Amino acid sequence: MTLSIGVLLSGGGSNLQSIIDHIEQGVLEARIRVVLSNEPKAGGLERAGKHGIQTEVRDHRSYSSRAEHDAALLKVLQAAGVEVVCLAGYMRLLGKTLVRAYPGRILNIHPALLPSFPGLDAQQQAADYGVRISGATVHFVDEFLDHGPVIIQAAVPAYPEEDRGELARRILALEHRIYPQALQWLARDRLRLADGRVHLQPEDDGLVLDSSPQSFLVNPPLEWGF
Ligand code: GRF
Repeated sequence: MTLSIGVLLSGGGSNLQSIIDHIEQGVLEARIRVVLSNEPKAGGLERAGKHGIQTEVRDHRSYSSRAEHDAALLKVLQAAGVEVVCLAGYMRLLGKTLVRAYPGRILNIHPALLPSFPGLDAQQQAADYGVRISGATVHFVDEFLDHGPVIIQAAVPAYPEEDRGELARRILALEHRIYPQALQWLARDRLRLADGRVHLQPEDDGLVLDSSPQSFLVNPPLEWGF
């Protein structure tokens, strides 16, 4: 099935770009019906325009409440025929009405291994805490901030001595791979929600390739003998 996607963003849109690229490469069976921003100057709008995708702006400052702004977003999404909403750097919390209009059909990407470090500046929060492993999460969205059933996570080592932006860059490179993958699973109807958790169904009669139990990431690395 070709997924009809609406992308909500507030910024540069590199995740949007990755979704576009995977669609154009033919590995993601989806069509972006509209890119919608609350920020008139979001770079993602220009990226969408270059690919002939419909863009819309609904500036939250022009509405008197979150509910009114959300209602305006919902109107755009429904008019464009959107079935699945992707939050890709959308810097506002979604209200109940919007979340309930798309049950199990809103995804978000967050630059940390949730439930650790929700909220703003997650990479910096992780670096400040001194974690040795961080990463990114794609999850279904509920009414709470950076919260909801996890679809896929990617982990990277974090180094205390590295430049502030470096961890964010390494995480972002993985974000660009896991978001399109999560969407393709949805397009193939391979995600099942049960007891608040996501189960990935095998493709046709195949097997889900779990990482081998030997696959792990330890940082700093174990030394000889451990
Ligand atoms: C990403 O780090 C994403 O995880 C977070 O916001 C950032 C958006 O980046 N939610 P971009 O606009 O897709 O480049």
